[in-house]
Amino acid sequence: MKRETILILDFGSQYTQLIARRCREEGVFSWIEPWDYPLESIRAMAPVGVVLSGGPNSVYAVGAPVRWEDLAALGFPLLGICYGLQAMMLREGGAVEAGQVREYGRAKIERRGSSRLLYGLAEHEPVWMSHGDHTTKLPEGWKITAVSDAGLIAAVEHLQKPFYGVQFHPEVSHTPSGDKIIHNFLYRICKARGGWNMASYAEEAAVSIRNRLKDGLAICALSGGVDSSVATTLVYKAAPDKLRGVFVDNGLLRKNEAQEVEAVFKPRLGEALKVVKAGSEFLADLRGVAEPEKKRKLIGHRFIEVFKNEARRFSDAKYLVQGTLYPDVIESASSRGPAEVIKTHHNVGGLPQELGFELIEPLRDLFKDEVRRLGRELGLPESILMRHPFPGPGLAVRIIGEVTLEAVKILQEVDAVFSEELRAEGWYERVSQAFAALLPVKSVGVMGDSRTYEQVAVLRSVDTRDFMTADFSPLPHAFLARVASRIANEVRGVNRVVYDITSKPPATIEWE
Ligand code: XMP
Repeated sequence: MKRETILILDFGSQYTQLIARRCREEGVFSWIEPWDYPLESIRAMAPVGVVLSGGPNSVYAVGAPVRWEDLAALGFPLLGICYGLQAMMLREGGAVEAGQVREYGRAKIERRGSSRLLYGLAEHEPVWMSHGDHTTKLPEGWKITAVSDAGLIAAVEHLQKPFYGVQFHPEVSHTPSGDKIIHNFLYRICKARGGWNMASYAEEAAVSIRNRLKDGLAICALSGGVDSSVATTLVYKAAPDKLRGVFVDNGLLRKNEAQEVEAVFKPRLGEALKVVKAGSEFLADLRGVAEPEKKRKLIGHRFIEVFKNEARRFSDAKYLVQGTLYPDVIESASSRGPAEVIKTHHNVGGLPQELGFELIEPLRDLFKDEVRRLGRELGLPESILMRHPFPGPGLAVRIIGEVTLEAVKILQEVDAVFSEELRAEGWYERVSQAFAALLPVKSVGVMGDSRTYEQVAVLRSVDTRDFMTADFSPLPHAFLARVASRIANEVRGVNRVVYDITSKPPATIEWE
């Protein structure tokens, strides 16, 4: 059966991905395409409904993306949000005014008459507004279903056709009844069946993975991170005899991490898992190198070398499993294009070309929280699923300057103390990413009666939604003091601990 889908046309709003997630949380698969996605493709997709997202433009801006007539002619239910609404109002013959009255932030709406879209909502509802343009006159054949406390048109619908629009953002959490509105659109208006969840996704994915793997083996680079763990497990469950998992221990992992990954995956994958200990090769490459980009490149190349050697053993290997997520897919398809390279991210990106493998990306439809839910469905432990992100080049980008075995050991200990305390106090789950870095700086200290001259360690903890921007976590001083004191007392080689209070931007999350 064809997968029931809601199509979201993106007019550039910062909230577009949220719309997609809300639909999925309500049990209907959703898919984002640019606003000018061709009509033939929409027809082929046959969505149960289409959402026109908000956007940063004024409908009067030169070159503002406008699309309505062809969509309206399709006959699918349509929901315009903010800019999406203004564009439809303008093209239906209504009037939209630019910039006179602006509404930003919290507002209240009052309902007018009955509405399928607003079914079950109270007479007055708090909503989140973010617009300069607004509709001043309705086109013929439409009615107002809510107005805002500033007296502006807040929700409209067509009298006969399944066309709806809201000026506010039902997809953000500041609109408490937003999920009801999305639910009404999906089930009352689009008549969706629903039932899309991670269990059904896992079944669907297993069938398609089995079909693809008929003619060859798939190799997966397991890193112990959430994405590669879930991708590997999914493929293994779908086709146990077709998967070869390779876990490269580059010697730059957190304390005990290699053993933990092995302990989780050996019982699950058995003979299908190969652990390659290559720490000394990576360290040898890094000897004498202090420049961050050079470190990243050396590690990337060595990883490909090690992995290629393993892959050669499987002569019938044809596929490479990669844990690409939906936000990466959207990002690379975006017309805005990839941002300037700040850091060369090391992952298996270069591998498919090097090896001549075809890619299998079983998570490319999913958001991160969905991957976690899928992992739970597949029986992976929370210790893997709730892990903070960890960079491919590992501790090498957290040891500032040259990477030595001694520095790796010191940093592993510092990081282990910090993690242990974060977990003990319940902070680990509350912050987005926390870790330690080691500076190539020595400072003077005193221990007992003796002078010490040792290295400085940095603690970094950030809160972020998307890792593109981040704030430092406001961890309590008493907590930081305890961590600092434990580190200085327990880790030989470190006598001073500092806390990084820079946000991103201007800093990045990692130090290199
Ligand atoms: P930055 O330091 O750029 O990091 O603010 C943003 C997020 O990306 C992670 N990171 C990496 N992840 N390979 C990865 O897979 C890498 O080379 C890499 N470098 C940074 C970083 O930990 C943070 O979560």
